[in-house]
Amino acid sequence: MARCAIDCVKAAKRVKRSGRLPGSLEPEETAGVDYWVADGHLIRQHCPKLSDLYISRELKEHLRKLTGLELTMVPDMASCMNVNVLPAGHRYEKHVDDWGITMVVPLTQCGGGRLLFEGAPVEHLDPVPGKGLIFNGTLYPHEVELVTSGVRLSLIFEFLVEGAPVERSEGLSEALYGLD
Ligand SMILES: [Fe+2]
Repeated sequence: MARCAIDCVKAAKRVKRSGRLPGSLEPEETAGVDYWVADGHLIRQHCPKLSDLYISRELKEHLRKLTGLELTMVPDMASCMNVNVLPAGHRYEKHVDDWGITMVVPLTQCGGGRLLFEGAPVEHLDPVPGKGLIFNGTLYPHEVELVTSGVRLSLIFEFLVEGAPVERSEGLSEALYGLD
């Protein structure tokens, strides 16, 4: 699994956007993203074990026990999962998510690079490999603080609560995953 996750990183694309995107909670001057990402298409191509995990009954059952929610897959290959890459000198802007429930798992240790939450029961997630969490990304604003050393890699799986309406801001997947 670790080796194919690295293949995803090698295939990751740089995405650089200035200004506010849907969900951005920063002023126009600091809003935007500048990061590298392997979206769901690249993960399926380079690390099918990860995409198999995303669709697995075992994970669905595990998350049901963990959250008490019936979670379903996001019906959009590009944005249902990603491997997010932030080298030193990069951060990720404060935002709320479009999809309902986000599972984030750090894959590397780095300097800085904590995931900070606003108004949530948990204040931050340290970049400790394998120690992730699942949260409602539409409810709690979150951002990644500046990475000061190393490379911050994280795996992100997105889910919907079963029965909830499927909504996606127009153009967001294209903006975040470099789909021009
Ligand atoms: Fe997010």
